[in-house]
Amino acid sequence: MARPEVETVKEKLDIVALIGRYVTLAPSGKAYKGRCPFHADSSPSMTVSPEKGLWHCFGCGAGGDAIGFIMRAERLSFGEALARLAEEVGVELSGGGEKQRLLEACAHVEAYFGRQLRARAAAKARAYLLERGLDEATWARWGIGYAPPGWDRLTRDLGDVGRPMLERLGLLVQGEKGIYSRFRDRIMFPLRDPQGRPVAFAGRALEGEPKYLNVPNTELFTKGTLLYGMDVAREPARVRGHMVLVEGYTDVISLHESGIDQAVGSMGTALTEAQARLLARYTDRVVIAFDRDAAGSAASLRGMGILRSAGLAVDVAQLPPGEDPDTLVRDQGADGFRGVIEDARPFHRFFLASLGERYDLQSIEGKERALDEARELWKRIESIPLRHELGQGLARTLDLPEEEVLGVLRGASRARPAEAQDERALDAEDIVVHFLLAGALPEEVIVDLEMGQFSPEYRSIVERWLELWRSGGTPSVGAVSENLDEETSSRVARTVMLDLVFDDERRAMEDAVRRFLYLPRLEEEIRSTLKELSQAEACGDDETMIALTRRYQELCRARLRGGRQREPEAG
Ligand code: UTP
Ligand code: MN
Repeated sequence: MARPEVETVKEKLDIVALIGRYVTLAPSGKAYKGRCPFHADSSPSMTVSPEKGLWHCFGCGAGGDAIGFIMRAERLSFGEALARLAEEVGVELSGGGEKQRLLEACAHVEAYFGRQLRARAAAKARAYLLERGLDEATWARWGIGYAPPGWDRLTRDLGDVGRPMLERLGLLVQGEKGIYSRFRDRIMFPLRDPQGRPVAFAGRALEGEPKYLNVPNTELFTKGTLLYGMDVAREPARVRGHMVLVEGYTDVISLHESGIDQAVGSMGTALTEAQARLLARYTDRVVIAFDRDAAGSAASLRGMGILRSAGLAVDVAQLPPGEDPDTLVRDQGADGFRGVIEDARPFHRFFLASLGERYDLQSIEGKERALDEARELWKRIESIPLRHELGQGLARTLDLPEEEVLGVLRGASRARPAEAQDERALDAEDIVVHFLLAGALPEEVIVDLEMGQFSPEYRSIVERWLELWRSGGTPSVGAVSENLDEETSSRVARTVMLDLVFDDERRAMEDAVRRFLYLPRLEEEIRSTLKELSQAEACGDDETMIALTRRYQELCRARLRGGRQREPEAG
């Protein structure tokens, strides 16, 4: 949903002056450079482009627009950062009223699901919840509800909210044969923002797959930016001096109901930087209580690294095998669970122990793999005492000399892969997307783009761009990057800022289009022509062979021309 006032605020802002309040910026060509405030930056790796209204750090990969900068620097939500900047440049935000309308509709839907849970037809859902130990008082406290079966139930029952609004809240799905309710026959959990307002829903199936279903990104909700239960956990966490981080909705609910009221849920997906910053707004210390299998996985170790980088102390609790926080607190009560929290180990110790569980550290190969993994982690750790402990511990765990282990770890931190990727090994795809976003790609190339050619990280950006482009005009970077999650908007900023390293833009573009778009297709066609040719040969089909040979020669000539199938038209 493009909001013109967001663009107005950004246009009126002087991004160099704004970022200059946090970082000393020195002019460098068309842009400015400074030390990135978001990682330990020894050389000025951050570039700010007043022309594009974007910033990007070639060291840590962070980047975005002015609003994104303030969000990170001041730990604000998008809305808060926008409001602050709008005030500074004197723009009146009308969107507030619109957001209010969305929030009211969302609250209305929550109440509707709540009523449905109490209706006669929901006996099965109620029995399920009671069976799991969630009673009616708990439903009320957490706003638990029920989405009835039926493809058009929501639009029929919620006529007063209206179909467009339900759609904007992510509650409807556009199928081939029409629009239908996303959630059918599911237990509904409202997801609330830290102020306690419902902004989205997750639905748990009573049976069947997927077990949980969420709304997609909407104007009110961006995936990976919320933590379940934050609204009720933030005050208790302040008092207790830490937060307990679990994975599931039911984990959070059961913990709170038994008095562990400082628990929040990551909602099962990999932790994001936005979630890390949200945690850091309310606490200094996080105790992770994932079930055993999940805790040791590469994704969750990476997540713990993200929390550390946000300046949080991270401890990892060891749950008994086969238990999750929900089952544990039901079996052993709040005191049992508190015992597990008290025994939590600092993250680096947990990490070292998990190496021994996952690899055979007696074998050379096991040691090598453990070292590789530790190197990944080391890169993200800035604390010198922590680095020291990790190095020492690793040497002990692997039974190797400490200096050598440290040498390997340090070697990794010198060749920062993010930098190498950004500044040197730009691949053709980065460059094509760059010129697409800059509005410089020729139309005949644009219409030739196929989504399947792009890597998953780029797909959503390219799709958004093409959608706006088809509806007329060249989309602005602002319009494309609105409402994207943090990782994708960093990526947009990086991609848009790439020309700062090109010598010859036109050549860079033509070359990239050829390498990314046309050559792979041509290679594919050459391969299949050769295959057909050998089939024709085997059958002794001379006529086909002649035709295919001609085709093959044409394709090879096209490859020599640089990938275009036809000669460029004259003129
Ligand atoms: P779990 O499978 O551990 O679910 O996933 P759970 O919370 O214990 O669920 P119950 O107790 O069976 O009801 C943990 C979390 O991962 C997310 C949800 O946030 C869930 O709470 N998840 C899981 C999904 O988003 N989708 C899924 O299909 C499964
Ligand atoms: Mn569970």
